[in-house]
Amino acid sequence: MTAVADETAAKLPLQALAASAGPWWKPLAGTASVAIIHVDLRPDTVHEWEAFGWLDSEERAAWQRYLPDPRRRFSLCRAALRAILCDYLGCTNERLSFATSDHGKPFAVVAGERSGVAFNVSHSISHGLIALAPSGRLGIDVEERVPKQSLDVLIESVMGAEEQSQLASLEGHEKLELFYRFWTFKEALIKALGTGFSTDPSLFQLPCSIRRGDKSGVFRFPHLPGTAWGLEDLSTEEYAAALAYELPLGQPSPSSGAHFDSTPLPQEA
Ligand SMILES: CC(C)(COP(=O)(O)OP(=O)(O)OC[C@H]1O[C@@H](n2cnc3c(N)ncnc32)[C@H](O)[C@@H]1OP(=O)(O)O)[C@@H](O)C(=O)NCCC(=O)NCCS
Repeated sequence: MTAVADETAAKLPLQALAASAGPWWKPLAGTASVAIIHVDLRPDTVHEWEAFGWLDSEERAAWQRYLPDPRRRFSLCRAALRAILCDYLGCTNERLSFATSDHGKPFAVVAGERSGVAFNVSHSISHGLIALAPSGRLGIDVEERVPKQSLDVLIESVMGAEEQSQLASLEGHEKLELFYRFWTFKEALIKALGTGFSTDPSLFQLPCSIRRGDKSGVFRFPHLPGTAWGLEDLSTEEYAAALAYELPLGQPSPSSGAHFDSTPLPQEA
């Protein structure tokens, strides 16, 4: 399989794509280079059957293996992703398939050729998020702030020393909220890298500015100092969420005014 540059992807304005909503997904505000789409994962029999109809045989086999809740999340997100990518790449659903990297990160294949388009998906209970960019690597994570048993044990296993001491100064809801904020940034980063949990999240720490509460920042993995990643906080009252995306070489920080907010874009009539 060869990698191809998607000329269509480079030409299509991302914001125009992001402004188009579907039956169970809608765009959130983004920058010119990354679009974020929210997917409604609440139970809905009509949507679930429609989504199932868009899956290919491999995806239907995966769907069979899941329990009902993960099955719903997978099919609603995957069908939304299919519709968005078909729109963006100008291909039919039948010509689009997915393959995965060594650690399971999906990438798009159009008529047998790997597409250069970058995307990542995350789902948590009722909320799914999809990030999409013309190229580069990106990762997204969303988590509903469900109370965790053994939160302190979890914090010890996934956070770095300074993150742990910051969390140790808090209790109750404040602690849970900060835990999810840190966690979604860290998971977005390991998903951007594509390595998933084979990268130990306790071995890197978020930038001080992000830990202090900044909505966006720049990060470098200690073992990969040559690559800079833009970070964006996408959290709302309903969920914690974060985006990590590779910054082009020579672009030390996200351009000003490039910040995300989670306000839905106005829809065309
Ligand atoms: C990637 C990973 C961190 C996701 O964690 P999670 O909290 O369960 O799930 P999220 O909802 O945030 O994300 C799931 C989505 O991430 C994507 N994904 C899967 N593996 C990924 C990876 N290695 N990197 C980035 N994204 C990945 C998929 O699109 C998946 O959704 P889908 O199955 O509906 O298409 C975790 O599954 C992991 O560590 N995977 C790697 C396992 C591995 O190394 N496998 C090797 C053999 S395949």
